[in-house]
Amino acid sequence: MKKIIVANWKMNGSSESTKKWAQDFMLLIPEVPYGVEAVACPPAPLIPLLNYLMDSSEVKLGAQDCHAKPEGAFTGETSAELLKDIGCGYVIVGHSERRTYNSESNEIVSAKASSAIKSGLIPIICIGETKEQRDRGDTIKVINQQIDESLPKEAGIGNFILAYEPVWAIGSGNLPTMDEIKQVHDAIIARVSKSIAIETSKVYVLYGGSVKADNAGEILALSNVSGVLVGGASLNGQDFCKIILSAVS
Ligand code: 13P
Repeated sequence: MKKIIVANWKMNGSSESTKKWAQDFMLLIPEVPYGVEAVACPPAPLIPLLNYLMDSSEVKLGAQDCHAKPEGAFTGETSAELLKDIGCGYVIVGHSERRTYNSESNEIVSAKASSAIKSGLIPIICIGETKEQRDRGDTIKVINQQIDESLPKEAGIGNFILAYEPVWAIGSGNLPTMDEIKQVHDAIIARVSKSIAIETSKVYVLYGGSVKADNAGEILALSNVSGVLVGGASLNGQDFCKIILSAVS
């Protein structure tokens, strides 16, 4: 199975920095290594530019969010259909920042993931516990509820990915131990496999939260980690390339 390495630039970047990122990337990784799927999710207005600049590369494009409806009077929103139309293959849904700042419930996340699947995009559905929930010993309970309520009925083999992002690990430099990541991923895989009746080996779960070039190799070596979702360290093309290369070294 390929390791999936996803860059989430969040609300960062400009046309200038995108050109530099693409240049650095193409220089360091003219060909994405065998066994790796590399995905870049810039802010939506930069997607066409990055698509143009990376035309000769196998890097896939993704967005950071989509609307649940295919079109209509929803000012400021972007549909999954349009993202597909402009060249995306993936879309992140339910990132904890959207759950927090945009009050996105599991129900909304499920509707967005459903729309993504129907449009031919692979949703990267984010789940993860807060520090308080973890300290109360509720991690698995929270995650199970997020899985049960955020997975759309269309979810099936190969058409969605989950990302385990402990909220307290995002942008903090603090990571769970490798054992903790392994345990939570095992629990996620078991729950998903049971709830939509697919083999455990067909459930893809990325880890996200303070992934850097110097810890990615260890995380990616865990057998039940299908890849990583990278925030801060993906803004620099060279650092992101190092993370990609650590998947195959
Ligand atoms: P950081 O890698 O900056 O911790 O962000 C993780 C994240 O939220 C990716 O979606």
